[in-house]
Formats: sequence, C-alpha cells, structure tokens
Amino acid sequence: MLQVKDLFVAYGQSEALHGISFEGRANETVAIMGRNGMGKTTLFKSLMGILPLKSGSISVAGQDISTDASYVRVAKGIAYVPQGRMVFPTLTVEENIQTGLENAVHKRIPDEIYALFPVLWDMRRRKGGNLSGGQQQQLAIARALVTDPKVLLLDEPTEGIQPSIIKDIAKALNEIRKMRKITIIVSEQVLSFAMDVADRLFVIEGGQLVHATARADTDQQRIKAYLSV
Ligand SMILES: Nc1ncnc2c1ncn2[C@@H]1O[C@H](COP(=O)(O)OP(=O)(O)O)[C@@H](O)[C@H]1O
Ligand SMILES: [Mg+2]
Repeated sequence: MLQVKDLFVAYGQSEALHGISFEGRANETVAIMGRNGMGKTTLFKSLMGILPLKSGSISVAGQDISTDASYVRVAKGIAYVPQGRMVFPTLTVEENIQTGLENAVHKRIPDEIYALFPVLWDMRRRKGGNLSGGQQQQLAIARALVTDPKVLLLDEPTEGIQPSIIKDIAKALNEIRKMRKITIIVSEQVLSFAMDVADRLFVIEGGQLVHATARADTDQQRIKAYLSV
C-alpha cells in the first residue's frame, strides 16, 4: 500500500535521511522507533510533501506521489497526524474535524468518527485549545481519518500524553485498522505502545533504518538499547 524507496532528504547542505526504504502493507501497522533527532519527523514530512526529496520515490496503492503537492497526496490516499497534533485552538472540535473534509462533497462528520472517539462528540462545541493533550490527539486522528486515507501516518502520537490515555489511543488505532484495513505508520519512542499496535517495527538512527523486526520476534532489550542515550 505504501512503498518508500531509497529516500534522500536534506535541509540545505545537511543531509538528514540517507536512503530510507520500507513498505507498509494493507491492514498492517508499522512502527518507526527512534530517539530525538534521528529523522522520524523529517521522514514523515517528506512522505507528505512538506519537505522535497533529493532522490528516491514514494507510492501509495501503486500511484507515484514523489513530486506531488501535499493536497494531491492527501487526495491519493495518505493522511498525516503531525507531531504536537497542531489542532486549531480557536476552532471548535467539530470545525477542526471539518477542516479534513475541505474537499469532500458532504461536510457531515461520519458517525463512525464519533463512535471511535466518543469524547469528541461530548466536546464537539468546545474550542480545540481547551482540550487535554490526549483529547487533542484523538481530534487530530479524527481530522486525518475523515479524508478516508489508505495510509495513515502518526508522528509520535503518545508524546506528552498520560499512560491511561496512551492505552486508549492504542485501542483506537487497532480499531481503525480493523475497520478500514488501512496501512498505519507510527513513529514512536514508547516501546510498549509500539508493541500494542505494530505488526513490524523498524529502528531509525542517524537518518537510516538500522534494524527491522516482526512484533513476535522482537528483541525488546535491543530496541530499548537503541532508544536510550
Ligand atoms: N528545519 C531544520 N533545519 C535543519 N535541520 C533540521 C531541521 N529539522 C530537523 N533537522 C535535523 O534533522 C535531523 C532529524 O530531525 P527530526 O526529523 O526532527 O528527528 P526526530 O523527529 O526523529 O526527532 C536532526 O539532526 C535535526 O537536527
Ligand atoms: Mg520528531
């Protein structure tokens, strides 16, 4: 569903990704694990077209998106929940979700979204800025989901979120995959969360994937060693 081949990405003269290749299958969740500064956000921004590729290619469901503008990539089936969530603080919950429906014929938010995140229904008239971190994360996921993606990217969704809510987010991601059979790519530093959601795990270090494992074969000590400084 998502094919990433030999991505090189640079900030000016400074190369940040040095040949990243992986794929995400339909009905699969993949975790990209790595410490701060290793290239997770750079990878996701380049997948979304926020950063240009120096070389390499990206395709979604067989369609090349490597040089498309971000909105075209969204139309072709890739959606993004950015690090720090980036909800619009002065818009209501409902309006925040509707920004994901900008190009849709109906602005009506599907019931499925509120079934997945009941708290968003309860708070639909509240301003995004008044939600807790965990609620904002759910809102950001809802906003991405209404674009009906084939591939959903989440950049460190557990960052700054309390443990009980982290469990809820893992449950929601597993529910989404079960309902929609989509590909979910999640970057993380929290191994327990990744083990709850991911079928396969990669480790990114210095802009390269240095380790890959299926969940069942995961050597957790080894991954923890990569994650600790
Ligand atoms: N806007 C930028 N300009 C220059 N270098 C950047 C910029 N953003 C990130 N970098 C560098 O790219 C590397 C990867 O950063 P990033 O993708 O943010 O890592 P992560 O998301 O894993 O914490 C780091 O060395 C970081 O300093
Ligand atoms: Mg980051």
